[in-house]
Amino acid sequence: MPLKASCLLLLSCLLLCSADQYQLEAERIMNTTPVIDGHNDLPWQLLKKFNNQLSLESANLTHLQDTHTNIQKLRLGHVGAQFWAAYVPCDTQNKDAVKRTLEQIDVIHRMCHQYPDDFECVTDSAGIQNAFRSRRVASLIGVEGGHSIDSSLAVLRTFYQLGVRYMTLTHSCNTPWADNWLVDTDEEEAVHNGLTGFGKRLIREMNRLGIMVDLAHVSVKTMKDALSISRAPVIFSHSSAYAICKNRRNVPDDVLSQVKETHSLVMVNFYNDYVSCSSKANISQVAEHMDYIKRIAGAEAVGFGGDYDGVSRVPLGLEDVSKYPDLVAELLRRKWTEQDVRGALANNLLRVFQKVEEVRDMMAPEDITPDDVPIAFQDLEGTCRTRYGYPDNGERLQLLPAVLALSVLLKLLL
Ligand SMILES: *[C@@H]1O[C@H](CO)[C@@H](O)[C@H](O)[C@H]1NC(C)=O
Ligand SMILES: *[C@@H]1O[C@H](CO)[C@@H](O)[C@H](O)[C@H]1NC(C)=O
Ligand SMILES: [Zn+2]
Repeated sequence: MPLKASCLLLLSCLLLCSADQYQLEAERIMNTTPVIDGHNDLPWQLLKKFNNQLSLESANLTHLQDTHTNIQKLRLGHVGAQFWAAYVPCDTQNKDAVKRTLEQIDVIHRMCHQYPDDFECVTDSAGIQNAFRSRRVASLIGVEGGHSIDSSLAVLRTFYQLGVRYMTLTHSCNTPWADNWLVDTDEEEAVHNGLTGFGKRLIREMNRLGIMVDLAHVSVKTMKDALSISRAPVIFSHSSAYAICKNRRNVPDDVLSQVKETHSLVMVNFYNDYVSCSSKANISQVAEHMDYIKRIAGAEAVGFGGDYDGVSRVPLGLEDVSKYPDLVAELLRRKWTEQDVRGALANNLLRVFQKVEEVRDMMAPEDITPDDVPIAFQDLEGTCRTRYGYPDNGERLQLLPAVLALSVLLKLLL
């Protein structure tokens, strides 16, 4: 072979091999540290497409089509743990939100039951690590939106019993106790200026139970309130960096500082609109968000929160859940250390989760009993409520001025 040709061959091989090197490295790392993703809406797809009938032939999760997620893709993507969203839209608020949320929790339980070789429902950090070893996708439940508890700490506690391990304080609507992100846009008025007194008690109850506080979808003031009062670190299960794309679903810099101080975690969302503030995005733009959060809040603050099957547009190169290794290769290309990569993949979430469990265990001997004071009846919305347990003084209080006026009038007359 002439020298020139062999040089060319060598050169192209070097280029090719170095391109592949990051991919191989990503695969090697993910073999022992698979990704823990913060937010996936497959259960919502199962409701919309199949009314949650997993037994339908077309609902076979092994090779489910027209979704970002199926078992085959999860395996290709080295997904080791997934927080599945028990999500029901805001228009269920003050209607059938609790029932519908229970149904989404049930369909997640049934996923684990029907695919025992692929999914393992777990409820703690040790369970995630066990599932890693047995090569099943550790499956956890996150309730997306405080409207799902209908302002009831009893419902929150019952969700915990059913395996729920994070709750997003709001979805895209205010609750009677917290403001959502739309109040930071022109779309809604702030009502509570962050968390109300009940909202703050809810955070304490979540700390006491060991449910992670998720601040995706909440207003900036709600983020700051929760970060200030939570005894345990918090997560953003699917949010990106506001400085990179000025969408209010993303996390602004001053909040990132609070994330750093509290050893909390931002799991980066892949939705094009939050990544590039436009309908198109690519894998390197997602990596820019991760780079940025790493720079401002530290590598310990970065995670993955793809939002797969909850969004209509995902970046070029991140088309479905099989693509996580490509994003990891991109991080390695950007000089992330192996330790930083393993942190973002799993160790950061495991650290936060373990801390949440520690705080729960610490609070138990402090004689902190379940918070059994219900929200004030007048703080509840909706018109179809019974008022069992609440005194009838709502009506009496309304009558009081009239009764007083009448007695004054009578005295004057007599
Ligand atoms: C899904 O389809 C596969 C074949 O691809 C089959 O082996 C499996 O039993 C099916 N699972 C369920 C729960 O129907
Ligand atoms: C990603 O998109 C940006 C902005 O359009 C562009 O500058 C960049 O070259 C793209 N990167 C890749 C790898 O396609
Ligand atoms: Zn969401």
